[in-house]
Amino acid sequence: MNEPIPFIDLKRQYAALRGPIAERIQRVLDHGQYIMGPEVKELEGVLSAYTGAAHCITVASGTEALLISLMALDLKPGDEVVTTPFTFAATAEMIVLLGAKPVFVDIEPDTCNIDAALIEAKITPRTRAIMPVSLYGQVADMDAINAIAERYGLPVIEDAAQSFGATYKGRKSCNLSTLGCTSFFPSKPLGCYGDGGAIFTNDAALAQACREIRVHGQSARYSHTRVGVGGRMDTLQCAIVLAKFERFEWEVEQRRALGARYHALLADVHGVRRLAVRDDRDCVWAQYTVFVEVRARVQAALTAQGIPTAVHYPKPVHHQPAYAALCSPDCCPQSVVAGQIVMSLPMSADLTHDQQHRVIEALRTAVAEASLISSPT
Ligand SMILES: Cc1ncc(COP(=O)(O)O)c(C=O)c1O
Repeated sequence: MNEPIPFIDLKRQYAALRGPIAERIQRVLDHGQYIMGPEVKELEGVLSAYTGAAHCITVASGTEALLISLMALDLKPGDEVVTTPFTFAATAEMIVLLGAKPVFVDIEPDTCNIDAALIEAKITPRTRAIMPVSLYGQVADMDAINAIAERYGLPVIEDAAQSFGATYKGRKSCNLSTLGCTSFFPSKPLGCYGDGGAIFTNDAALAQACREIRVHGQSARYSHTRVGVGGRMDTLQCAIVLAKFERFEWEVEQRRALGARYHALLADVHGVRRLAVRDDRDCVWAQYTVFVEVRARVQAALTAQGIPTAVHYPKPVHHQPAYAALCSPDCCPQSVVAGQIVMSLPMSADLTHDQQHRVIEALRTAVAEASLISSPT
C-alpha cells in the first residue's frame, strides 16, 4: 500500500511553525499569566483587524462562542431561533440548552448551506434570532439573510466555525452580521492545540455582554451583574493561534488553490458531484466535500488504499435522537439526502499535488467499480 495520506496534515504544519510556536509558548511560560494573559488581548486585536469587526472576544470553544452569543442576546425559554439542521450538533444544542427552540430550515442542495428563500416562512412572533452556518468554509447567503432579519428586527449569528478566512462579496466571514462565531478546534482552518473560539461583533454593548458572560457575568472583579459561564480561552492557546496566524494568509491561499484544483480534476470523474461555490464568495474548504451516491463502497475502497474520508454529517440534527422531537423527520428533505451522499476528502494547506492526484485517481476507480457492483444487471 502507498504511504497513507493524512486527512488533515497538522504534522507538516507544525514542522513549518515549530520555531514561532516554541517561542510563543516559552513567552507564556516565562510570564506565567495562564488565564487572561497578554496574548488574549493581542490575539483579539489581530483577529479583529483581520476580519474588520470592531470587537473580538476569544472564548473557550466554538460551542462556547455560540452559547455566549445567544446569552448576550438574552435568549429565553420558549424563544425560537431559525437555523439549519445540516450542521454539527453544537449549533442547535446551544439553543436547546437555553430552553429555546431551534426552528429548522432546509438547505440548498448544491451548497448545503441554509436556503435563505425558505427562512421567512419559518418566522413567528417567538423568533428571536437567525443562525445560519457557513458550512464547509463557504459563507451562507448573508445579504439575503440579513435583509430578512432587518425586516423583522432580528439579530443574525453566523456560525462561522468552519469558515474563518472566507470572504463574501469582498467582506470577511465573522464580520457579516450582528455576531459571528468561530472555532479554533485543531482541524479548523485556523486551529489551536486544544479548544478555543472567538466571537466577533461591531456592537459595543453586545461585545461588553460577551466579555462579561465569558467570566461568570462579572462586570468588575467579584461583581456578578449577570449570569455567565467559565468561557475563557487559555493564554497558551491564544499564543499558539498567534504563532499560526503568521502563516494563515498563505494557508488560506493554498486551501483556495487546492479546492479549485480538486474541482478541476473532478470535473470528468463520473459519479462524483462537486459542491457549488457561488460567484460572489469563496470557500476556505474546512472540508473538501463531494456528493457520491455509492458512498459506503467508495469509502471502503479508499480506506484500503490509505486514503481517509469522513462524512460531515451522516444525519441532519433533527434525525438525531436528542433532537427528533423538534420537527417531523421529513421537515427538511434536502438535508436528509445530503446526509446520505456527502463525503469529505483529505484537505489541508499542506496537501501536496501528488497526494491530491492519488486521491482523484483512487476515487475515479473506486466510484467506477462501486457503481458497477451496485447497478442492476
Ligand atoms: C458548524 C459548527 N458549529 C460549531 C462547532 C463547535 O465548535 P467547537 O468544537 O470549537 O466547540 C463546530 C465544530 O466542529 C462546527 O463545525
